[in-house]
Amino acid sequence: MKNNNKFPKGFLWGGATAANQCEGAWNVDGKGLSVADCSKFKPDVDPKDYIAQHGITLQDIKEAMESEDTILYGKRRGIDFYNRFREDLDLFAEMGFKVLRVSIAWTRIFPTGVEEQPNEKGLLYYEELFKEMRARNIEPLVTLHHYEMPLYLSDHYGGWYSREVIEMFVKFCKVVFDRYKHLVKYWLTFNEIDSIFRHPFTTAGIVTERYPKEKQEEIIYQALHHQFVASALATKCLHEIIPQAKMGCMVTRTLTYPENCHPKNCLLALKTNRENYFYADVQVFGMYPRFIKEEWKAKRIFIKFNEEDEEILKSYPVDFVSFSYYMSLVSSIEAEKKEKVNGNLSTGVKNPYLDVTEWNWQVDPIGLEYSLVEMYDRYKKPLFIAENGIGAKDIVNDNGIIIDDYRIEYYRQHIEAIASAISDGVEVMGYTPWGCIDLVSMSTCQMSKRYGFIYVDADDYGNGTYSRIKKKSFYWYKKVIESNGVHLQ
Ligand code: BG6
Repeated sequence: MKNNNKFPKGFLWGGATAANQCEGAWNVDGKGLSVADCSKFKPDVDPKDYIAQHGITLQDIKEAMESEDTILYGKRRGIDFYNRFREDLDLFAEMGFKVLRVSIAWTRIFPTGVEEQPNEKGLLYYEELFKEMRARNIEPLVTLHHYEMPLYLSDHYGGWYSREVIEMFVKFCKVVFDRYKHLVKYWLTFNEIDSIFRHPFTTAGIVTERYPKEKQEEIIYQALHHQFVASALATKCLHEIIPQAKMGCMVTRTLTYPENCHPKNCLLALKTNRENYFYADVQVFGMYPRFIKEEWKAKRIFIKFNEEDEEILKSYPVDFVSFSYYMSLVSSIEAEKKEKVNGNLSTGVKNPYLDVTEWNWQVDPIGLEYSLVEMYDRYKKPLFIAENGIGAKDIVNDNGIIIDDYRIEYYRQHIEAIASAISDGVEVMGYTPWGCIDLVSMSTCQMSKRYGFIYVDADDYGNGTYSRIKKKSFYWYKKVIESNGVHLQ
């Protein structure tokens, strides 16, 4: 892999967060309950067992709704970003961030989703946040839907399975586009829209237990269809309300290699990757690929399309493609006989050439270059790496310092991979490492799974001062940004 340090002028270096994992303040200033407020830390469950960690039942939701607990429901407290955001923005500005990815919690603006009028206090909070970013020359990149839909919509409408949710989402989008039209230029619709099959509750408010097993796949596809239509309508509204703004889709890029060159393995990997691309395909090309329609036919899955849906999808594709990239997987026709690894709520065959993180996610910087090249060839739209990073247990040493050389090495290799793709002609707009400040883990609700350049003094149960400490990687990333990707050592 070569590093020609080809980052263009104006490259958007920064970091990424999501409201439900950092804001806290789960029940203040009129905020309603969201699906994220039901995520519970399960100390007795193996953190690598993502199904047991993240699975949810109707009973779990009932208990969450009746509970005021913020110890085990860690996303309710986050890292207190709601109150400390100015201090955090100062630190991001000190690192030289050009962009910060945040999300708007729908439940701060429409607490249940069905209100006619928005909650002014919620609108004011984000207005203040975006103004403070701008004052520090940090461009906001705003996700509209990051695993935090109103719980009320899940409970009363079955989440995105109901077509009515499209209208409520578009109402929310219009309000925030209008309010922040002078503050925000870059938007993303659904975070990792493909995760609907991996965790339907957090992604779409669907509790699978409500439906017979044989209907669940159809229900998830139907909800996904509603999200695709909503994404297109949000793009339409954005362009009408803020003509100069750009909308991106956001998908999980899970690159899958064939286990070896056995043609059956290669074909399997091809099809697995095609499935992974399906979600961006619809939002970029404005139509469903034929293979999905064939799959529906074969499985007798019937998806209701309104007459205008195909036209909507076709007319309002996204402007750019953003994605998260953490690791690659391997597919094999003999998968059941092989050793497995996890990663981002998915499982695959272990790749003998790659190391894994403490959470068993395979580290593969070349896979990032591979993905960038392939995605640019496929979409021919600017790409944005909206998430990348390594979750690790950081140690504060006796001198109060965190020497996170493993994180520096991880980023060094991934940034080299981006440079290499850029020098190959790939158009990359920006790079926002995930959890640029430690925050609550999406899958496990742990604080000890840390991604940040900034350490937050809090443990898995929320004990701690919440004070912020700059890690060694903080100073390293600052130099990377200052040199526009030249100084990586
Ligand atoms: C992405 C999500 O899938 O991975 C984030 O968009 C999440 O919300 C990140 O935090 C890392 O996953 P985890 O489970 O380690 O927090």
